[in-house]
Amino acid sequence: MKIIVADNYNALSQIGADLVIGLLKTKKNAVLGLATGTTPIGLYQKLIEAYKQGIVSFKQVKTVNLDEYVGIEKQNEQSYAYFMRKNLFDYVDIDLNNTHIPNGSAQNLQKECIDYSLLLTKTRQDIQILGLGSNGHIGFNEPFTAFDSKTHLVKLSQQTINDNARLFESKNQVPTHAITMGISEIMAAKRIILLASGKNKAKAVYDAINGGVNAKCPASVLSLHSNCTFILDRESASML
Ligand code: F6R
Repeated sequence: MKIIVADNYNALSQIGADLVIGLLKTKKNAVLGLATGTTPIGLYQKLIEAYKQGIVSFKQVKTVNLDEYVGIEKQNEQSYAYFMRKNLFDYVDIDLNNTHIPNGSAQNLQKECIDYSLLLTKTRQDIQILGLGSNGHIGFNEPFTAFDSKTHLVKLSQQTINDNARLFESKNQVPTHAITMGISEIMAAKRIILLASGKNKAKAVYDAINGGVNAKCPASVLSLHSNCTFILDRESASML
């Protein structure tokens, strides 16, 4: 596992974006595994800048997102589908038909998980971007999720609900369930980039890197991946 400690969030975002830009320059039809949350927003802004400067195109790119809340329609501003449009897709030349996000308002959620899993077997990520939960989650694979898990329905932990409450008017508006890509499907990516920024991620970063491979910290599984880079800022790296 490679660890890069950037000076600040802007530098972290640029380093992450440069890895994606490097891929897109050599593989125009790359598959990008995408994350939502606050952390990758800067990286997406850098990708938009690179697109505007004519450095990259997304015309042939395919994307698969990690997760989506259950019970929130994709038009809803709190959905991850909406997040992706507002933070990346609306500003680049991507074909929305090539973008994939689990449907958290599907009638049959179990079927949605199976279908998404099947899609992933045919759409392997060249790069998977990950954020990190303060409890060590990746995607919404909460502590003690099986490492061989595939796309599944998850009940969010209280810590995740508390962390995400900042993005809602009140804590009781935070969805309690989500669909997430499984750990084995994250690990199937050819390359993984995990971004972590801020002091509240320092313990999870420490556990992921120094705690040994342990289901208590899902991100610790990443040390078993052959091409995984952690891109941290000084705060998130402060316990290393
Ligand atoms: C989002 C996701 C989550 C977040 C994590 C960190 O698609 O899969 O694992 O990456 O909860 O979120 P932020 O970046 O908001 O701290």
